[in-house]
Amino acid sequence: DTDPLVVFTPSGKRGHFPKGTPVLTAARQLGVDLDSVCGGRGICSKCQITPGYGEFAKHGVTVQPDALSEWNKVEARYDEKRGLKPGRRLGCQAQVMGDVVIDVPPESQVHRQVVRKAASARVIEMDPATRLYFVEVDEPDMHEPTGDLERLARALKDQWEIPQIRADLTLLTKLQPVLRKGKFQVTVALNKGHRDDVARVTEIWPGLHEGGLYGLAIDLGSTTVAAHLTDLETGEVKASSGIMNPQIRFGEDLMSRVSYAMMNPGGDREMTRAVRDAINTLAEEIAKEAEIDASLIVETVFVCNPVMHHLLLGIDPVELGQAPFALATSESLTLDAAALELSAINPRARVFVLPCIAGHVGADAAAVALSEEPGKSEDLALIVDVGTNAEILLGDKSRVLACSSPTGPAFEGAQISSGQRAAPGAIEAIRIDPETKEPRFRVIGCEKWSDEDGFWEETATTGITGICGSGIIEAVAELRIAGLMDESGLIGSAAQTGTERCVPEGRTNAYLIHDASAEGGPRITVTQGDIRAIQLAKSALYAGARLLMDERGVDKVDRVVLAGAFGAHISAKHAMVLGMIPDVPLEKVTSAGNAAGTGARIALCNVAARAEIEKTVRQITKVETAIEPKFQEHFVAANAIPHKTDPFPELAK
Ligand code: FES
Repeated sequence: DTDPLVVFTPSGKRGHFPKGTPVLTAARQLGVDLDSVCGGRGICSKCQITPGYGEFAKHGVTVQPDALSEWNKVEARYDEKRGLKPGRRLGCQAQVMGDVVIDVPPESQVHRQVVRKAASARVIEMDPATRLYFVEVDEPDMHEPTGDLERLARALKDQWEIPQIRADLTLLTKLQPVLRKGKFQVTVALNKGHRDDVARVTEIWPGLHEGGLYGLAIDLGSTTVAAHLTDLETGEVKASSGIMNPQIRFGEDLMSRVSYAMMNPGGDREMTRAVRDAINTLAEEIAKEAEIDASLIVETVFVCNPVMHHLLLGIDPVELGQAPFALATSESLTLDAAALELSAINPRARVFVLPCIAGHVGADAAAVALSEEPGKSEDLALIVDVGTNAEILLGDKSRVLACSSPTGPAFEGAQISSGQRAAPGAIEAIRIDPETKEPRFRVIGCEKWSDEDGFWEETATTGITGICGSGIIEAVAELRIAGLMDESGLIGSAAQTGTERCVPEGRTNAYLIHDASAEGGPRITVTQGDIRAIQLAKSALYAGARLLMDERGVDKVDRVVLAGAFGAHISAKHAMVLGMIPDVPLEKVTSAGNAAGTGARIALCNVAARAEIEKTVRQITKVETAIEPKFQEHFVAANAIPHKTDPFPELAK
């Protein structure tokens, strides 16, 4: 008689095992991904499986109802106390008795995959640096004098094959009471980074810890700090939250903050203090929102531009303000939360900071590369992450190039006469009728659209407060489409255009979108100054992209990916009418959502991705826009709408 055949789904892994083999043991021998925190003691329930019954033609197996052993005491006790879902068994208790097909549900897989919403979704595979282990530690014995930590280490070695552990003093101070409270049964959180050879004990709980483990993925921008609180077992985002970067009071953009550090002794330290305080506040708020204890946050990943990177780490950014823009380090960093004074989270939490690409292309661009993987692309992809600076990546399988370009804050609605952040009351999209020259628009926070296509007639609106980045881009592009503005960006007069919407403003003209000034509301126009600000921003973006294309020796790209919160809202057509991005078929322009934030989540959930991005960053060719004379040439030529010389054949279609 051959031993029973065991087939695991969805992996399809199979093998013969002697009767009486626990399912968890069979899974381990076959390398099937089946979770366990308690090591098969029947208490953590992470190992749940579903046995199938009947004929499995695909696998050539007929499964009898008694293919697995009956419930034993441990399983029955678990079910009585905690309840198993119908049909589920504990993999560590159920034993193989006959041919069987066993399904491992997603929640029992350690390396489960997290589904992403964005179009260019890279799946996140769970493989976090911090994990939970339940152990039974030998009690102390007068005749064999060893320390509690040494016995804990031995238990982890015997029960989990963890060769070595390390614990710091703050952990040691709680070790003895916790061990005794748990009657020498404890759960430990062990962290092992991709460069560590020894696992660190991040936390210890009496008995089985069931409160979960969490991490923060933080996108530290010059204007806002955004965090995603992520469950380190499932990858699920439990809460997302953001706050303004309080460094704004030291300077709106990066260069003014560097100047502040240069001109004020101790200014860098003030800014470091401010941002660390903000991160602590954010961590407290987000934990509260998700209703978890902030001490369960045991890991944090940061992505940020080089100046933010230095200020977070407490490094004076002055070298980043002048050529040759030397970084203190471009390598990734793994640190203790205490080193960054992150007191709101677990004191032994580990922090990973992604590597910077160059002195002006930061860890945020590295995170975009991790999320969008241009180095794996078959076709030539241009990825732009638009913020106060644009991070630009161009590449395919053979080579990836990167630069950053100083677009300024116009795309975010700043420096625009009626500009505002994308918040309720902001006009976010606009259409100008080419015949009547009348505007219709869409306002954030207003859902009562009068039109089928979701655009309002101007007369029907109240509660409008301003125009945000995507709105101003569409407005300028629509002015061009409707023939109200020429290629150089000049708005015509009422006499030239035949519409009263074109109103004089100083010595130039403006286009009136909405006027509620009679009722004390805003008067929203697109002024000549607004158009100038958008032209400067779009020229910088386009020139950066063109510089990379020159370097790569191409005059067109195959596809364009717009990343960032802004990229998610901007219309591809309007971006191209403006000449923000090079000409490609419109269907080849996609939005990746917050790719930098996603990159941070990937590095948080998957420890191998940290090594991967370090390698990727070393292979990226860095292009410096500030010292490249060609950049200026491209910039000037890109001032026209869409462009002075470069062709835009797709627009003609
Ligand atoms: Fe913990 Fe089975 S492994 S209950």
